[in-house]
Formats: sequence, structure tokens, C-alpha cells
Amino acid sequence: MYYSDDLIEEVRAGNDIVDVISSYVKLSRKGSSYFGLCPFHNEKSPSFSVSPGKQMYYCFGCGEGGNVISFIMKYENYSFLEAVKYLADRAGIKLPEIEESPQEKKKAGLKSVLLDINKEAALYFYRLLKSDKGKRGYEYLKKRGLSDSTITSFGLGYSSNYKDDLYRYMRDRGYNDDVLKETGLFSFSERGVYDKFSNRVMFPIMDVNSKVIGFGGRVMGQGEPKYLNSPETLVFDKGRNLYGMNAARTSRKDSILICEGYMDVIALHQAGFNNAVASLGTAFTPRQCNLIKRYTDNVYLTYDSDGAGVKAALRAIPMLKEAGLSVKVIDMKPHKDPDEFIKALGAEAYGERIKSARNSFLYEIDKIKENTDLNSPEEKAAFYRDVSVKLLEFSDDLERSVYIDTVSREYFIPKEELVQSVKRQALTYTGEKVKASYDYEASKKKAKIKNANTDDGIKTAQRILLTWLIEEPDIYGLIKDIIDADDFYDDLYHKVAKLLFMQLESGNINPAKILNDFDNEEEHKEAAAIFNTPISEEISGKERQKALNETVIKVKKNSLIRKADTIIDIKELQENINQQRALENFKIIL
Ligand code: UTP
Ligand code: MN
Repeated sequence: MYYSDDLIEEVRAGNDIVDVISSYVKLSRKGSSYFGLCPFHNEKSPSFSVSPGKQMYYCFGCGEGGNVISFIMKYENYSFLEAVKYLADRAGIKLPEIEESPQEKKKAGLKSVLLDINKEAALYFYRLLKSDKGKRGYEYLKKRGLSDSTITSFGLGYSSNYKDDLYRYMRDRGYNDDVLKETGLFSFSERGVYDKFSNRVMFPIMDVNSKVIGFGGRVMGQGEPKYLNSPETLVFDKGRNLYGMNAARTSRKDSILICEGYMDVIALHQAGFNNAVASLGTAFTPRQCNLIKRYTDNVYLTYDSDGAGVKAALRAIPMLKEAGLSVKVIDMKPHKDPDEFIKALGAEAYGERIKSARNSFLYEIDKIKENTDLNSPEEKAAFYRDVSVKLLEFSDDLERSVYIDTVSREYFIPKEELVQSVKRQALTYTGEKVKASYDYEASKKKAKIKNANTDDGIKTAQRILLTWLIEEPDIYGLIKDIIDADDFYDDLYHKVAKLLFMQLESGNINPAKILNDFDNEEEHKEAAAIFNTPISEEISGKERQKALNETVIKVKKNSLIRKADTIIDIKELQENINQQRALENFKIIL
């Protein structure tokens, strides 16, 4: 770590977690905490809690949790240092320039050097486009209908047709080959170093924070490949980013339009549909679905109208639905893609197509039907069967029956027949292929619960006790003679307990500060979970007292039994047994 613990704590304490998180997640107050929809997994009812008292967040659905620093790291995909810098800035805290060891500098630095180089390269391409040398590129973009302000806001550029223009420029700026090799912008070979992009119009690819992470370059006119893209680098992870998301995420529209190409995104934004994004010349990934899900619940697929576009849509739909998104498909016919559609028919016509977009389920059935000859009895039977199997995807009975109505109406299938067919399929298909996506989530959850249940609930008792102590620190005085940090045998629990007991001893309870000591992501999360163990708020009076007594006894007794296993000395063993016996009479009076 580069800053002192005190300074990090100052930054953490200077950013109220409720304030910070409310700017990302809509929160509403419930008891002593705030709740909202978890930004880290998909859910329909809020299980994401933010506690002003603890200055922590915790999701009861997926188990993500931590303090304000780890929230920013996770949400913005920042490193620890980036998050601290961001929060210091937000709180108006001045951070000192830090002395880094050369090794640390290299590791932490390479990423930011690559981002610097990308930014400089983008600027270089942009200037070239606007200069005499870039005239061909500029004219190409103009011919494709882009305005100057669109060119500027997307930072479009031009790469020179000299073989190593950019390379020499970067060398002149003081970057050495070791670093330049990592950018993906150059080909190094025995014959020399060449610019990877030459004589192309350039599309800088930005992450959600508008940092340039890579490039796409298009030939002007015919040529292969039509688009050349940066390879993956330390800063360019294709499966995790979407072209145009930096702008789309602030569009204030309640949906995202997903298209195939750079030019589609740009044409759509120019036409006022500034919520358009595209995957980066690769197949759509679940991580991209989750990225979208952070900003909206509704997506429209606006893929090419050709066979490849249909195939891509059929692949993307289940993935998007799995992420909890509601999906509709926009028909671009008779045009190829959104860019050409808008050029031919205009923005208003495109807006109409959005309105008449097809629900993704019915779109999938449309596609099955297109390949079916309903005049053939066999094909017709197969179609009924496929439709029935698909209807089983709805786990909600009401929803399924609504779709049975729609499908029977739209595809002229007698309703009774369809209902019977669905029932038949349900018998043979339980738990198989179609339901696989649902079962996957369910089994993940089951696995989690099972893990928590091992250890006979002893860890649970330990967690309850630790949570209880931060929620009602007065209890500490009643148990401090019995329980100490060594009673928590798991390394992580032990560390949490030790830090907490130190705070309890000094009277300054600050659980979020304890989390600063866990810089491993998994451990950080688990420590947060320990402090957010659900304790029923309903029980009161005698019941509460009983619950607390049982918890303390369980924790202590288990600890004594474990210790007994390792004791060799008879006297010590006797003492251990006495302590176990004494526990039976232990009673806290609240
Ligand atoms: P398309 O071939 O549909 O091109 O590729 P387009 O978007 O309509 O482009 P224009 O209008 O001809 O300029 C869709 C997307 O697939 C990726 C690019 O991201 C492109 O925008 N692609 C395509 C490549 O990465 N490489 C290629 O050679 C072609
Ligand atoms: Mn196109």
C-alpha cells in the first residue's frame, strides 16, 4: 500500500457511504439501513443494503459487501489506488505525491502509461484527420454522413499511410519499445517496427469512464479486413466493454440499443438515439450483459437484418435474459443495419421501429416458424413441440399462460391443443435443457447456503456475535471476561475479531475501518458479510437475552473443545473442562 493507513481512513471517513452509493443506486430507507437493487447481480426486489451506522454495504442476495472504497473499486472497476484518489478528490482531501518502488511503479504504472499512450494516439489520429494529410479520411467520413460535431465527440481520426508514423511520434515523445510493445498499436519484427493501423479511419474505443482502451480502424472503400481492431492488452478487455457505453450510460433513456457495428452506434447517436452501444467485433458476452444491467433493465437488439444478424440475435437473447434484462428485437428490413436504415428513412422512422419492436420470445418463435412448412404434418408437429418446450422457459405460471394466449392467437394454434402440448412437454422435459439457465442460478445459491451451514452453525454463531457487538457495543462489557479474539479459530474471523475487540476496548466502533485491513477482494467481502449477519429484530426482552446467551455459550464452548484437542498437560486439561462446566451456569442479564 502506498498511502498511510491514517490517510486511507481519512479518505474513507470523508465519504459518507450512503451519499456515494445513492449516486449510483436508488436507495430507500428501511429501519436503520437503506435498501436498493444490487448493482452487482440481477434482482427484482432489493436485497442490497447500505448501513449509515456501519458505513458498509452488503447484498443479502449475492454476498457482495464492503466499505465505500471497495464499492467504488468494484463499481467503477478501479484499482485500490484509483478508488482512493477518486474519493479523496470527491471529499476535497489532498493526497501527497507518493514514492513508489520501481517495481510497484512498473506494475501500477504500466496500465496508466498504456492509457496515456492510447489517449495520445487518439489525439494524434484526430489531428491528422483534421489536417491536409488526413483529407481522404475526413472526406470518407463526411461522405458517410457524419457531422463535424459527431466526428469530434467520438474522437474519430485517421492513421497515416506511412509505415511507421505513429511509432516515430511515440518514440519522440519518449516512450521506449518495452512499453510500446504492450500497446497493441505496433508490429515488431526483425525487419523493423510498423504501425498496425495505416491508411484507415480510426475509431477510438473507450471504457465507461471515457478512457481510450483500444482502436478500430476501417479501410476507406474496399479492402480486407474491413475493420482492424486492437488486440487485447492490459487495458483492453473486449468481453467487458461496449463501444459507445461511455456516452450511452448518461443518455437518461430507460433502455439501451445494442447494435453490431461502430458506424451503427455513431449514426444512431447522431440521429438522437444516444443510448446505442455495440459489442467490439466479437460475440456478445455475459459480462457485457451485466455491464448493461447496471444502467437499465430494457434492451433492444438492433442487429443487421441478414442471416448473421439473426443468428447473433438468437445467441444474445438467452444471455441477456439470463442477466435479468427484458429484450426486444428491432426489424431493420428492408435495410441492412441501423446506419443504412436511418440514412434511407430517417430518425423518425427508426423511432417507429423501436415502438414496434418484437418481444424477444415471440421473435424466437418467429424464427422457428420461418424454417417450418406448416403444410407438412411432421413439421407442424415438430413446431408445436418446439413452441411448447420454449413456453416452459417461463417459470412463472401466470406469465406462461399469458404467452400461451398470445402464441395461440398469433400462430393460429388452437389454445387447448397448445396447453395440452405444453403439459406433455413439461412431463418429459423437467430439469432438462430448456430449464438449464434457471437451474444454474438456483444451484449456485444452494451451494452458497450449504457452505454457510457446515461447521454446525458455529461460524454462524461467531458471525452473529460479531455483528451484535457492533450493533450494540454495550454488550461488550458483559462478555469481555469470557470471549476473546482467540475464540475465533478461522484466520479471517480471528483477524476481524481482534480488530473489533481493540475498537471496543477503546470505545471507537468503526467497522468500515476494519475493512481497510482486508485488501484481498474475497476476504474483504467475507469480512463485510461477517458484520452483516442477519439478526432478527423482532425478538425482544427475554427472547433476546436467551439468544445472546446461547450464542456466547456456543462460541466459547466450541472454542474450548477445540483447544482441548491440543492440550497435553493434565492440569491444563482439567482447567479446560472446568471452564466448559462453568459455561453451563453462564448468564448475561440484559
Ligand atoms: P459489418 O460488416 O456489419 O460492418 O460489421 P458495418 O458496421 O456495417 O460497417 P460499415 O457500415 O460497412 O462501415 C459489424 C462490426 O463487426 C466488426 C466491427 O466492429 C463492425 O463494426 N468487424 C467487421 C470487424 O471487427 N472486422 C471486420 O473485418 C468486419
Ligand atoms: Mn454498416
